[in-house]
Amino acid sequence: MTSAHLDAPPVTVRVPAKVNLELLVGPLRADGYHDLSTVFQAVSLYDEVTVADALEWGCTVIGPLADGVPVDGDNLAVRAAKALSSDARHVGPVHITIRKAIPVAGGMAGGSADAAATLVACDRLWGLGLSRDNLEWYAAQLGSDIPFLIAGGTAIGSGRGESLAPVLARGTFQWVFALAEGGLSTPAVFAELDRLRGDGPVPEPMPTPELMGALRTGKAAELAPHLRNDLQAAALSLRPGLATVLEEGIGFGALAGIVSGSGPTVAFLVSDVEAGLDLAVALTASGVVRDVRRAHGPVHGAHVLPTSVD
Ligand code: C5P
Repeated sequence: MTSAHLDAPPVTVRVPAKVNLELLVGPLRADGYHDLSTVFQAVSLYDEVTVADALEWGCTVIGPLADGVPVDGDNLAVRAAKALSSDARHVGPVHITIRKAIPVAGGMAGGSADAAATLVACDRLWGLGLSRDNLEWYAAQLGSDIPFLIAGGTAIGSGRGESLAPVLARGTFQWVFALAEGGLSTPAVFAELDRLRGDGPVPEPMPTPELMGALRTGKAAELAPHLRNDLQAAALSLRPGLATVLEEGIGFGALAGIVSGSGPTVAFLVSDVEAGLDLAVALTASGVVRDVRRAHGPVHGAHVLPTSVD
């Protein structure tokens, strides 16, 4: 490896968070994963990841949500850059700067988003010209949600969640996210689901046609009754206080509330921008949540930002 291109301009990629509109979890597999059928939607909470040629590998996380993110080799973005670099000869090392706005360990794929952004950014920085399929292949090796954060939009994920098919979704949906104090570990939430399920048979997960139909209407009121997350019971078991958050959000007028992915962020679907503002104000005032973010979806996946002209 060489650091021959230290004068190459840094590349910044903007990457969204995700919410699972439907997350159906099948039986535990021999490899420790669960077969999933999930419908992802990319939402407008963004991390920005800048990669710059450097003399040694490094990572800095900045922004109000930066606390608790590892900056060493455990950081998924660093692992993503190193994986790409070891296959592409004569590239690296890089310094990665992550401006964090996606909740950490919040069930919105923040770490996966940073890895997705890093793959896209390093591909550009190093002039690799990888195809989208190729990038998604690297993404799938690193984590189940990462290919979706490259793709964006609304998509069905199967297998571990990494195998994607597009979904026809009309319109834009408005969301309010209730952020919790502290995160939840994804493996711990899956393990809790297995414990709650016991030894009974678990059916293979299949996308539900009702949800697909609701997405085609583009109407939030049609979508609301079909939001479903099999991990919700496990997240509530580990974090019983989330039940109060869900109740409060519905009480304040949300069309539906659901734990986002493995939690503990709670996602509320609202009818329009104004309803989102009202809900955000009410939840903040209630004191049951750490913080609130409004967002809309679907939005595009990881994309390079235009460089500023001096
Ligand atoms: O793929 P990723 O590294 O994001 O997954 C984190 C953890 O979540 C896995 O180690 C596993 O415990 C759990 N998981 C699972 N089934 C999936 C995806 C994730 O059990 N389909």
